[in-house]
Amino acid sequence: STRTLSLNTGAQIPQVGLGTWQSKDNDAYKSVLAALKDGYRHIDTAAIYRNEDQVGQAIRDSGVPREKIFVTTKLWCTQHHEPAKALDQSLRRLGLDYVDLYLMHWPVRLDPDYIKDGNILSVPTKQDGSRAVDITNWNFIKTWELMQELPKTGKAKAVGVSNFSINNLKDLLASKGNKLTPAANQVEIHPLLPQNELIDFCRGKGIMIEGYSPLGSTDAPLLKEPVILEIAKKNNVQPAHVVISWHAQRGYVVLPKSVNPDRVKANRKIFTLSDEDFEAINGISKAKGEKRVVHPNWSPFEAFK
Ligand code: A2P
Repeated sequence: STRTLSLNTGAQIPQVGLGTWQSKDNDAYKSVLAALKDGYRHIDTAAIYRNEDQVGQAIRDSGVPREKIFVTTKLWCTQHHEPAKALDQSLRRLGLDYVDLYLMHWPVRLDPDYIKDGNILSVPTKQDGSRAVDITNWNFIKTWELMQELPKTGKAKAVGVSNFSINNLKDLLASKGNKLTPAANQVEIHPLLPQNELIDFCRGKGIMIEGYSPLGSTDAPLLKEPVILEIAKKNNVQPAHVVISWHAQRGYVVLPKSVNPDRVKANRKIFTLSDEDFEAINGISKAKGEKRVVHPNWSPFEAFK
């Protein structure tokens, strides 16, 4: 799909973008290059993915003009007090002059000196037993007040948030210092976590929804769902086409991740689902219950509802 959607800044965002969480080193480089050669014009990364170097290198090597590509990166939780500096650091790693979208990765600040090199998400407490989440001297409203100044610098064409609940967004929008509505809210969405209320809320406020882990993340569990397999067989398409088409038909940005060039290419192909098939996919979470797959046990998104 080459379809684009409109952000509240007036910019266009390609509906299907390449996700790069868990894409490492040369895999990240190869998948971004394969995506751009195939016709993708939207790449999503983050400081904490530790692949901005490779992603940027692939963007520069692709030969696709910079202005034709929509690039997103994200502020990590340990730098909530210094988004301008963090953005400069990301741009340096990417080797780019600007990103199209800069997102606050989570609505929670982590102690800046909590972990130097590692995977903060898997360790909920510091070595001395204290909590990594700093909720006493800081909140995401302050972070947003700093972030909303960034578009003026031209280094981020738009700013937005990620992993924000409806209540988080209400707090942000109602805050005294808020001057700018986030351009986007990037959250986990797939047939087992359809996020219908959040999608409706964001639509009402002009905030673009972006769905991450659209196939259910690691090992793509959704591609094994009997309902999906049956629809794929009936339509003579791959299960991934069915799931990504369901997302696209719901009208938001979808960010499938793959490091395999063939699967990268496949994931951009979408088709129109019949009403019956669309409803059958909606029925999956109704029958099985909703399930968050990304950090279900460390989720500020849940903890700070
Ligand atoms: P790989 O990177 O080896 O292709 P999500 O987008 O929900 O985060 O899902 C990513 C997971 O789905 C990864 O394990 C990825 O593996 C796998 N994946 C991505 N695209 C496809 C596809 N078309 N068919 C099968 N598995 C896929």
